Amino acid sequence: MTLPNGPKTPWMLRVFKLIFHPLEYMEDNARQYGDIFKVGGEKSPPFVYISNPQAIKEIFSADPDLFESGRGNAILRYFLGDNSLVLLDGAKHQRQRRLLMPPFYSDRIRDYSQLICDITKEVTGRWQVGNPFTVRLFMQEITLRVILQAVFGLDEGERFQQLRYLLSKLMDMFNSPVSSTLLFFPSLRQDWGEMSPWGRFLRLRDRIKQLIYDEIRERREVGDLSRNDILTLLLSARDETGDSMTDDELHDELMTLLVAGHETTASALTWALYWIHHLPDVQEKLRYELESLGDNPAPTDIAQLPYLTAICQETMRIYPVAPSTFVRVLKAPMELMGYHFETGTSLLPSIYLIHHREDLYPEPKSFKPERFLQRQYSAYEYLPFGGGNRRCIGSGLAMLEMKLVLATIVSQFQMALTNNRPVKPIRRGLTIAPPPNLQMVVKSE
Ligand code: HEM
Repeated sequence: MTLPNGPKTPWMLRVFKLIFHPLEYMEDNARQYGDIFKVGGEKSPPFVYISNPQAIKEIFSADPDLFESGRGNAILRYFLGDNSLVLLDGAKHQRQRRLLMPPFYSDRIRDYSQLICDITKEVTGRWQVGNPFTVRLFMQEITLRVILQAVFGLDEGERFQQLRYLLSKLMDMFNSPVSSTLLFFPSLRQDWGEMSPWGRFLRLRDRIKQLIYDEIRERREVGDLSRNDILTLLLSARDETGDSMTDDELHDELMTLLVAGHETTASALTWALYWIHHLPDVQEKLRYELESLGDNPAPTDIAQLPYLTAICQETMRIYPVAPSTFVRVLKAPMELMGYHFETGTSLLPSIYLIHHREDLYPEPKSFKPERFLQRQYSAYEYLPFGGGNRRCIGSGLAMLEMKLVLATIVSQFQMALTNNRPVKPIRRGLTIAPPPNLQMVVKSE
């Protein structure tokens, strides 16, 4: 057998489904064609969706030089710039990854714990009993402030205020399936000035770019290497040949961290608050666990709580923010699970489909944190952060942030959803998120 089966849907309908009903689209095909199915392939090499743990293991453990991912992420060039880690492959990717990883090691991210708790208290301090609020706005403010502080050591001043405002505005441009179509149809990406969506996007992006370049220039001039933010580390980083990063490289990596580092975590946090308040039983168990730590618990103790950890894991299982990993485009033919894939085939490990396998996750549509207390899942069965040589570099920071923000909020407030009906995920740019207008209200403090 050379190629797996798959739908014969016309291209236009396929893209429409992918934009407006991405999860149903993947599920319908998996039901019909199994855990490896192909899409397209008539005129160009196919996309192959994979939700088989053994196949995913083989992809994640294969020689990284067999794949290109940067090419598949080309759309992100407009947001991040050509030198972004997510657009690079091969030796360049490895080099940049080595430069970027150290600030995300666990002993370094522990330093952010107090900051995360303080920012959460400050932002949620604006909530008033009885006044409904839009959950995402607040989660986004928290995660954006945390990442700006981590990246620039910046939490006040004109440049910081502007960056915060403009970055939120930029990401909110793609907060619905309709506005996300811009990312899928190159013909819609026309710069007709401020009045056109793409023109607005480019102008916003350029304003952000300027602010980041200004900050880099100023930092180079001042030359203070005693600060412990990521920009300072990158300014002094050298690769094995002794070269430092150029301004363009610095800009693109900083922008990558700012964008990748706050949107995703804000979506995951919004989901977690939804589940905790949608399911009274979950909330009760979480409160019981948090109370066991007494008043003013240490962040390190919070981060180790098993049920809180399981809530975060289950939140990213049931609706993973990234429905698939980055694509892996084959640079040479590959044999996989009895199939033969030609050069140019795009392999797409489907995080959503694997997280909904009945044999791994019984009753996959139910939110059950307990499953993570009862069973240890492998890196090929549970992969909200992808895997292999492209595994998310911010996973540790994201998990820590989720736990500390949730613990801070749940310990301080009694809250409710303004409407307790079940909520469905919707597309937000390239990710899947809770509806942007999900509202909650504080009942008491
Ligand atoms: C809940 C939060 C997050 C989720 C669900 C998430 C998910 C992912 C996924 C699925 C990938 C692709 C991995 C692959 O293709 O195998 C990825 C890559 C990446 N993520 Fe995250 N991420 C999150 C938070 C963060 C944070 C906080 C940062 C940085 C501060 C970050 C930075 C990155 C970068 C730089 C990459 C590219 C890695 C590479 O190409 O080598 N992410 N993330």
